[in-house]
Amino acid sequence: PKATFISPDGNHDELSVASGTTLMQAAVGHGIRSIVGDCGGSGACATCHVYVEQEFLDKLTPMDSNEQEMLECASSPVQDNSRLSCQIAMHDHLDGITVEVAPTQW
Ligand code: FES
Repeated sequence: PKATFISPDGNHDELSVASGTTLMQAAVGHGIRSIVGDCGGSGACATCHVYVEQEFLDKLTPMDSNEQEMLECASSPVQDNSRLSCQIAMHDHLDGITVEVAPTQW
């Protein structure tokens, strides 16, 4: 399945992401520098903050309490469609998902 990342500088990157790989891992692995992923994906740093396109929001596994708490530490404004990209594992039903990367991660 494919995922598109829109970076704050306006770059669009469409990546093929293996099922089970998180969006954070995919972005970092492809050199998308607007996602930092400082904690390595354990949901402990909030440097992988993205805004998820509305039509895919309901298809995601709901946020757990840890993700909610970590998002409060995010450096960019939190919106209704904010998620930590390390908590979004790619699967076929998410094919075509687009996320906008938060303007700052620190
Ligand atoms: Fe640290 Fe997502 S990579 S919270």
